[in-house]
Amino acid sequence: MKFFLDTANLAEIQEAVELGVLDGVTTNPSLMAKEGIKGLDAVMSHYRQICEIVDGDVSAEVIATEFDEIIREGEALAELHPNIVVKVPMIKAGVKAIKYFSEKGIKTNCTLIFSAGQALLAAKAGATYVSPFVGRLDDIGQDGLQLVQQIVDIFSNYGYPTQVLAASVRHVPHLLQCAELGADVVTCPLSVINGLLNHPLTDKGLATFLADHKKVNS
Ligand code: E4P
Repeated sequence: MKFFLDTANLAEIQEAVELGVLDGVTTNPSLMAKEGIKGLDAVMSHYRQICEIVDGDVSAEVIATEFDEIIREGEALAELHPNIVVKVPMIKAGVKAIKYFSEKGIKTNCTLIFSAGQALLAAKAGATYVSPFVGRLDDIGQDGLQLVQQIVDIFSNYGYPTQVLAASVRHVPHLLQCAELGADVVTCPLSVINGLLNHPLTDKGLATFLADHKKVNS
């Protein structure tokens, strides 16, 4: 399973790269705003910087909702760096744009997926990734992981090459359950990846080993 970081924060991306486990990055307009990135030039330059840090796919989201504008924005984003994946919302114009981009060899991530039907449509249009939002479904009392399961099963029935990118992954159990279900990718905050490191018995065991080593060597 690939690990993507869901952030536009350069220091966090650098930290995950240094841990040696980062396969890519996803961003969205809210994450860019959180970093205080304003204006087209700053946005484009920030995407370039992310691409220089991580050796993997970097999803950059279009703002447009009309077909022609999505194409214009998406092509400009794709020209920035070979690792850019154009992130397109699950709307009718977005599906048409995904088809267009896939015929041009431009990678896409269909975002804001909340049903298996939406995922199927995006896969048929040739999306590289579909992003079901696990946490946001949980937030409204639905089962986000069940949606991941459904999409994984459907894609596997027909051998769709589209990868299931579990998004809105909020904590370690989410990530592990996505792994059990066979999601191709999870995207999450750095705290979730760092959370995989932790177990109290590891801390206790290490403290004992170090203390015993001191006794033997003092
Ligand atoms: C997906 O690519 C989105 O950027 C993201 O995972 C949304 O997560 P959130 O629901 O925690 O904002």
